[in-house]
Amino acid sequence: MNDIAVNVNGKSRPLTGAPAHTTALDWLRGAGLSGAKEGCAEGECGACAVLLATPTPEGGTAWTSVNSCLVPVYALNGQEVITSEGLGSPDALHPVQDKLAEAGGSQCGYCTPGFVCSMAGEYYRDGREAVVESADEECPVHDGEHGPNGFDLHALSGNLCRCTGYRPIRDAAYALGSPESDDPLLQRLADPAPLPVATAATVDGSRFIRPASFDETLRLLRDEPDALLVAGSTDWGVEVNIRGSRAPLVVAIEHHEELRRLVVTDDEIEIGAALPLSEIESRLGGTVPLLAQLFPQFASRLIRNRGTIGGNLGTGSPIGDTPPALLALGAHVVLTSADGEREVDLAEYFTGYRQSVRRADELIRAVRIPRPLAKVTSFQKIAKRRFDDISSVAVAFALDIEDGVVTAAKIGLGGVAATPLRARATEDALVGQPWNVGTVRAASEILGGEGTPMSDHRASSEYRALMLNTALLKLYSTTVLDNKEVSA
Ligand SMILES: Cc1cc2nc3c(=O)[nH]c(=O)nc-3n(C[C@H](O)[C@H](O)[C@H](O)COP(=O)(O)OP(=O)(O)OC[C@H]3O[C@@H](n4cnc5c(N)ncnc54)[C@H](O)[C@@H]3O)c2cc1C
Ligand code: FES
Ligand code: FES
Repeated sequence: MNDIAVNVNGKSRPLTGAPAHTTALDWLRGAGLSGAKEGCAEGECGACAVLLATPTPEGGTAWTSVNSCLVPVYALNGQEVITSEGLGSPDALHPVQDKLAEAGGSQCGYCTPGFVCSMAGEYYRDGREAVVESADEECPVHDGEHGPNGFDLHALSGNLCRCTGYRPIRDAAYALGSPESDDPLLQRLADPAPLPVATAATVDGSRFIRPASFDETLRLLRDEPDALLVAGSTDWGVEVNIRGSRAPLVVAIEHHEELRRLVVTDDEIEIGAALPLSEIESRLGGTVPLLAQLFPQFASRLIRNRGTIGGNLGTGSPIGDTPPALLALGAHVVLTSADGEREVDLAEYFTGYRQSVRRADELIRAVRIPRPLAKVTSFQKIAKRRFDDISSVAVAFALDIEDGVVTAAKIGLGGVAATPLRARATEDALVGQPWNVGTVRAASEILGGEGTPMSDHRASSEYRALMLNTALLKLYSTTVLDNKEVSA
């Protein structure tokens, strides 16, 4: 096994002696790189953002901003990280730092290193300027959030500032030009990203392993029932930091090629369980409208740069956002173990609160979405904030309507029962009926009674039922307004 080390700001730093659950943030700060800050330690504020060299589908590299408070530092073995210190210095500011200072985008400065890193990730994004022409069509959720330089403000959606106010920060982002051709961080992007490095670290009885091969991961899962898989660590990192969870063995899997494929055929779309959500979003490019509508509403760009579908299904949370959408898309889950592979209808996958049919020796390798896709789709997330919040209720619709009659309906629900579920009674009430306000009102009454919503700090059971009740009407009104070819 090679030495365990991370390349930070161009310098290799050994990882010797760090306990297995050490976060990248704690390790960086302990090494004297105190630019990245801890605001929340749970992925909510972005003060800890750093840039990570990640592979692009074309074989190059992207500078991807991530929450260093959530990433286990051993997951960065052999990887390249840039912190705010590595971008520039007081004597030679990076263009992003320069524009922020010029626009008055920093007061107490606590959030600034995180903003700087997220902004730099967008500054170096390949094709940033190309979106200017089509800016209004870029985002299916809210339009016009691109600057004249193509800067996508979603890049900053995971960064919070308590004192400056966001306008000067936005002004700084929109004032950015293009990187100079001799910018070393730009030049770095033409070469491949670092390869994943097999890792085995044992400190104080806790182990962190990045297996060299997928088969080795499956063997570990079979032989070590205590093994905890970690992909993006956006859930696990919160468990570690806030709930004090520890696992005797953490197995990192997000590097396995077998979990990172995105394959589109005439019959289906297979999405690898460990592909970061941002990458799925950009590679699908709007070809699955329901997912294109979901992604901007899922956490923040910082979280989506690491979070995965495997992790979202792996937690089994009843308020995860991908399950309702995947249920409406009729997705299947591919489960793999050392004994082979099986495919389970997602509608049969969840068996109880955070329980599923997945055995301890299995992992989720991929999800498969059958094609053709339904023509009328909608993802509605009801949360306290419009962005960067957890769902109180999520509803996903996928309907086929031919000659004004509903010919097929799949509806996925989240937040209204111990598991995500299909709204079967509502689906039955819709199929074969004319798509008109009478049908929709009748079906809405049924939808409002689906699930067993409970009251908690996010919403009361009555509110959740009411949100279900109105969701179909909302979809109906958009189909009428959009004048889709669905009238009875
Ligand atoms: C600030 C913040 C905001 C968030 N907002 C949202 C939101 O809007 N909507 C939402 O749905 N979620 C949200 N989340 C939760 C989280 O980001 C998602 O659940 C994400 O998809 C988890 O993916 P991950 O790869 O990071 O999972 P990890 O943290 O790596 O893993 C989570 C769990 O899944 C298991 N697991 C991971 N991969 C696999 C696999 N391939 N097979 C089997 N098990 C696996 C792990 O063992 C672990 O138990 C948020 C989290 C944070 C911190
Ligand atoms: S410290 Fe707040 S997101 Fe990491
Ligand atoms: S400048 Fe103080 S929190 Fe942003």
